[in-house]
Amino acid sequence: MILQAQEINKFFKDPERHQVLHKVSLEVKKGELLSIYGESGSGKSTLLYILSTLDTDFKGSLHIKDQDIKTLSPLALTDFRNQYIGFVYQFHYLLPEFNVLQNIMLPAMKFAQKSNEEIKHDALLLLEDVGMKEFAKRPSYKLSGGQQQRVAIARALINDPALIIADEPTGNLDQKNTDIVFDLLKEITEEKGKTVVIATHNSKIYKNSHRTLEMIDGSMRL
Ligand SMILES: Nc1ncnc2c1ncn2[C@@H]1O[C@H](COP(=O)(O)OP(=O)(O)OP(=O)(O)O)[C@@H](O)[C@H]1O
Ligand SMILES: [Mg+2]
Repeated sequence: MILQAQEINKFFKDPERHQVLHKVSLEVKKGELLSIYGESGSGKSTLLYILSTLDTDFKGSLHIKDQDIKTLSPLALTDFRNQYIGFVYQFHYLLPEFNVLQNIMLPAMKFAQKSNEEIKHDALLLLEDVGMKEFAKRPSYKLSGGQQQRVAIARALINDPALIIADEPTGNLDQKNTDIVFDLLKEITEEKGKTVVIATHNSKIYKNSHRTLEMIDGSMRL
């Protein structure tokens, strides 16, 4: 198991205290492509935010790579996240003022474990993997949505994380680009042994994942 979440309860306090996640438990195996689907408002993003360790304000327990997330100091948690977790969002959040290559290099430069030369080398290999090598020098805002999402996947992989968490990664793409992005995510699990967790509305995605879980009103359907 790479990820174990047990009885996660999440409350939001605004406008009044209300419970958004109810005793959500799940386990994810190494090399698995798991999709989580559910209606808008069912709690997918809230859950992924917790699973990606960005939100530690929850009840219950979360272990990633056998590490109890709640026992880490904020600094140790940031390090842990940089090392083990990559993210892909519906709206890619590439930095428009940087070119494609720079966008991919950035998380590795922040992590500061490799020289800039090594990072550049790795970033170019990843760009090749996602079929975007000829766009390395292009400012990211001059790409189509599908191209930007492929760059976002390369960026998520630059620190060689074991776990990739993707929230609606194809939410604003047409079916052709959805297929390209999904195939890439699947390849990562099957060829690189990565683990991918995707929140999605897209039936083609959840039907073609290794396993699918459904969320209903903040609970995992059994
Ligand atoms: N910061 C917040 N404060 C208060 N309530 C919130 C907050 N963020 C989300 N919620 C509420 O939590 C519930 C779950 O939201 P969440 O974003 O996790 O749903 P989702 O399944 O990702 O939906 P979608 O498919 O539309 O992205 C919703 O009722 C939402 O209104
Ligand atoms: Mg969401």
